[in-house]
Amino acid sequence: MTTIGLLTSGGDAPGMNAAIRAVVRTAIENGIKVLGIKNGFKGLMYGDTVEMDLRSVSNIINRGGTILHSARSEEFLTIEGQKKAADMCKHLEIESLIIIGGDGSFRAAREFLKFGITCVCIPGTIDNDISCTDYTIGYDTAMNTVMEMADKVRDTTESHSRCSVIEVMGRDAGFIALNSGVAVGATSILVPEIEYDFDKDVIERMKKTLRTGKRHFVVIVAEGCGKATQMAKEIQEKTGIETRATILGHVQRGGSPTVRDRVLASRMGNFAVHHVLESKESCVVAAKSEEIVSYGIEESANMTKLLDLELYRLAYEISI
Ligand code: F6P
Repeated sequence: MTTIGLLTSGGDAPGMNAAIRAVVRTAIENGIKVLGIKNGFKGLMYGDTVEMDLRSVSNIINRGGTILHSARSEEFLTIEGQKKAADMCKHLEIESLIIIGGDGSFRAAREFLKFGITCVCIPGTIDNDISCTDYTIGYDTAMNTVMEMADKVRDTTESHSRCSVIEVMGRDAGFIALNSGVAVGATSILVPEIEYDFDKDVIERMKKTLRTGKRHFVVIVAEGCGKATQMAKEIQEKTGIETRATILGHVQRGGSPTVRDRVLASRMGNFAVHHVLESKESCVVAAKSEEIVSYGIEESANMTKLLDLELYRLAYEISI
């Protein structure tokens, strides 16, 4: 009987559990044994596993987080750590690994290929920064969380005629900031991919809209662009408008996944197991124009995904 090792790695994302469920159920239906590996690659090195059965994934499709737990392992980045994990795979008779995670986890998987274990990567990260796929698992839920939170902040911002600077996740990627910024009508949206001039893109825009009668402002900033608290101080000094900073933080990584994330996770998990059944090739599972497809790990590492500049332009035109 073929054995698959299944792990979640890196920052968790809503919908990872739905993907775990899909992998386990598809595998068992097709006569494959699934070993759930706890705490990502760290658990793999130390053989922290549990055999999954159909009922082990009951009642998790609606839950955020990951029942397998997650970690970022420094040790696995060393050749000794990888060797330890490869030996463990042999010992446990794991022929294929299904890895649910983000770009860091996929880089780790790429390093692991030299040990001859098939790695099938499923993109699970709120950042949506995996180039080969239009959507990653967790991104939609995170954006909806940001929207909900920013709407609440907006209520009090409006009551007090203030400005609120809302910092969202995304060290290197502005997908969450841009899309949620458009959804909440932010006056300015700052993303790491696009250079900005604080005076021109934030202060001047606020002054311009003040002249047209606007009395409250929401600025969305991706964490990679700077500190919301510092920006709030500068806005208050330069405009005279009382300004507060809100850092949404890890609330964005939690919560029950949206329909979109649950369906995407179910499709990707199911696809990953069928891929293992049909091929020994390692790959990254991706959503492309509503289809689920796969790319070679090397190929996907060389792809780029750009922020939607048209959406950025549109935000500037209508959020005034
Ligand atoms: O990669 C997902 C993510 O949530 C990023 O948006 C964020 O910068 C980072 O993880 C935070 O990581 P940690 O939970 O380790 O602080």
